[in-house]
Amino acid sequence: MLVFVGRLCVGAVRSVFTLVAVQTRSFCTFTMCAEKLNDVPEVEIEDSGTFKYVLIKVYPGEPSGDHEPSKLIVRGGQKFGPYHGDIYDATLANLQKLGLDSECLGGGRIRHEPEKKELNVYGYSQGFGKADHQLTVSLLKKKYSNYAINWSDEGY
Ligand SMILES: *[C@@H]1O[C@H](CO)[C@@H](O)[C@H](O)[C@H]1NC(C)=O
Repeated sequence: MLVFVGRLCVGAVRSVFTLVAVQTRSFCTFTMCAEKLNDVPEVEIEDSGTFKYVLIKVYPGEPSGDHEPSKLIVRGGQKFGPYHGDIYDATLANLQKLGLDSECLGGGRIRHEPEKKELNVYGYSQGFGKADHQLTVSLLKKKYSNYAINWSDEGY
C-alpha cells in the first residue's frame, strides 16, 4: 500500500497504471483480504455419490501479523479431480487468482445421498493425512442444515 501511495504523487496516468498492475498481482491489504475470504464459499462438494474431499485453511497471501484472518473450507468431488492432490491443486489455483494462500489440513471421503439427505464423512488422504472430520461436519451442517450428517475415523 505504501508503494502505491508513493507512486500516486508521480502523476495521475502513472498511478492508474500502478493500480492496474497492483491489482493484477493480486496484492491485498488486511481488510481487502478479509473481504476476499468472505467471497470464498465454505463448502463445495459433489451433489451426490462417494468422493474424496480435502479440508483447507485459507488465509491472505501477504503476511499481515498474528491476527491475520483465515477460514476453513471443504472441497470434494470428481469435478475437482479423482485424487486428493487434484482437489487441492484445483482449489489452490482458484485461491491464488484471488491473491489468497492456503494450507491443506488433510482429507478423507464423503458419501452424499441427497435423496436420504445424508452425508457421511470418513477415511483419510494418503498424501495429506486425515482431516479433522468433526470440523468438516461443522461446515457441512451450515450448508446442509436439514441433513443427517455423521463422521467416523474408520475406512479409507
Ligand atoms: C453414518 O450413517 C450411515 C448411513 O446411515 C451408516 O451406515 C454409518 O454406520 C454411520 N456412521 C457412524 C459413524 O455412525
